[in-house]
Amino acid sequence: MPRFNRLLITGAAGNLGSVLREGLAPLATTLRLTDRAGMGDAAAHEEIVQADVGDLGAMLDVVAECDAVVHFGAAPVEKPWEEILNSSIKGGYNVYEAARRYGIKRVVYASSIHAVGYVRREEGADTHTEHRPDTLYGLSKCFVEDLAKLYFMKFGIESALLRINSCFPEPADRRHLATWMSFRDLVQLVTRCLVAERIGCTVVYGISENRERFFSNEKAAHLGYRPQDSAEDWREEVEAKCPPGDPFDPGVEFAGGVFCNYGHPDDAE
Ligand SMILES: NC(=O)c1ccc[n+]([C@@H]2O[C@H](COP(=O)([O-])OP(=O)(O)OC[C@H]3O[C@@H](n4cnc5c(N)ncnc54)[C@H](O)[C@@H]3O)[C@@H](O)[C@H]2O)c1
Repeated sequence: MPRFNRLLITGAAGNLGSVLREGLAPLATTLRLTDRAGMGDAAAHEEIVQADVGDLGAMLDVVAECDAVVHFGAAPVEKPWEEILNSSIKGGYNVYEAARRYGIKRVVYASSIHAVGYVRREEGADTHTEHRPDTLYGLSKCFVEDLAKLYFMKFGIESALLRINSCFPEPADRRHLATWMSFRDLVQLVTRCLVAERIGCTVVYGISENRERFFSNEKAAHLGYRPQDSAEDWREEVEAKCPPGDPFDPGVEFAGGVFCNYGHPDDAE
């Protein structure tokens, strides 16, 4: 029997949203899908609502009658400030505020490694490490993580804050040997965050069972996430095509990788 009557996925037209659209289907009688981009036709178990997550009125309509929210709709990389402000910061606020108004009790949020991008690789971090954003993008993830903490303490909304590292079909470079997460592991992690009896307000790193890693999920064991895939399976292929970088290049020194090399997104070219 499905765990939810109606489960909402934001960012459903995106790469990860599309993976979750398929992977989370068994959990709900109805999946409600939202994005500002087109999402194709709705299957029998789906409802599709096209909307801008930065518009509170629109999001109140989208969130109504849902039992839980999987919030993945946002600027997915560094973008100009106005885009970060609307899609990621206001968008995050609108989702949590709509959840509060409708009495929704659990949100799974796609945060990012870039909330702690200025962690040195060799120092590593766990799920209690303070924020060290490497971009305005990373800063927006810090904002929504703190918003989630406020809405947990004050309004009792549980959250899983997924600091996803690099979730792609396969690892593309040497950094990904530590940061990669498979689509299968993403579906398992989001599922665990939705079905675990109590999640509180928990940060968890979105990574597969990689031999190399910058982050520890030891303090998130209550979620019961057991990654099944490993970047190790791609090591030979990746090392053959990608020569090692300079260890003192900020893109190699810090966990955030090339994002640590970016300037301000609003500076003229
Ligand atoms: N792919 C990764 O490795 C990775 C790593 C860390 C975090 N994340 C986070 O996961 C989420 C999904 O990422 P993705 O890789 O699937 O990116 P994506 O660009 O494929 O998906 C993002 C989706 O959000 C939608 N969106 C953006 N602004 C919107 C707005 N104002 N209103 C409505 N919809 C809007 C886009 O249309 C898009 O479909 C993002 O929040 C991203 O920051 C992804």
